Amino acid sequence: MSTIIDGKKISEMVRQEYAEEIKRLAGMGVVPGLAVIIVGDDAPSKIYVRNKGIACQQVGIHSEIIEMPEETEQSELIEKIQQLNERKDIDGILVQVPLPKHINPEVVVASISPDKDVDAFSEINVGKIMIGRQRFLPCTPAGVIELLKRYNIEISGKECVMVGRSDIVGKPMAMLLMQNDGTVTICHSKTKNLAEITRRADILVVAMKKSRYIKADMVKPGAVVIDVGMNRDENGKLSGDVDFDEVSKVASYITPVPGGVGPMTITMLLKNTITAAKHNHGIE
Ligand code: GUN
Repeated sequence: MSTIIDGKKISEMVRQEYAEEIKRLAGMGVVPGLAVIIVGDDAPSKIYVRNKGIACQQVGIHSEIIEMPEETEQSELIEKIQQLNERKDIDGILVQVPLPKHINPEVVVASISPDKDVDAFSEINVGKIMIGRQRFLPCTPAGVIELLKRYNIEISGKECVMVGRSDIVGKPMAMLLMQNDGTVTICHSKTKNLAEITRRADILVVAMKKSRYIKADMVKPGAVVIDVGMNRDENGKLSGDVDFDEVSKVASYITPVPGGVGPMTITMLLKNTITAAKHNHGIE
């Protein structure tokens, strides 16, 4: 049986540390501020955004949720972002995706000041990750690294296999594993003999958006398995990309869904907002 990596517990612990840090900053007259913009009525996005606001409140970050209607023009959204770029009390800006179809997310992200891009989605921040000079780490991959560290799981020299090559998770996750001296292989939907490669992994990270796809015979006994998947069935029940019941019998460590990587994503957003505030106020 494997050890279950408790993302909820670690997340609470880490958030407490951030609350202390924010108290210290408050003593210096700095209150980190985060603006979250949501355009339209996507129901899951509304829940994510609400949770981001609650998390900010918990640790003492000032947050503003800006709701814009579905029919908002791209130019109006960009104008709003430009106003937030100028504000001294706002350190981080996040535009929730998906955006309505008539809005180009790349143009929108490019309009966020790189110093306030707490998602680390902009070309400049993505480029910095490539060369290991990042100020912000994208929240989900950063959350995975934090979980591994908190459980004292060594990455250096390990065979790391990333299943998934998205801009938000797969690619930056592979970069971070490599920065931590892992030997990294990236697999995706066109990979041949996927199981052959996943079975090589000491650390297997899965973000493929396919419910319970990774079975026990695709995992090396004793591997660490990190499930970034978040799939909802027709009854709204959540499942990961890993068949937890099967794989937990062969892995040494495994993250559950929910309660694994998920809670860490918002926690890392808090971290990035604190980092942004320190930078924007000249504190290190
Ligand atoms: N939608 C789902 N996850 C995210 C995220 O991490 N950032 C943003 N901006 N939108 C999202």
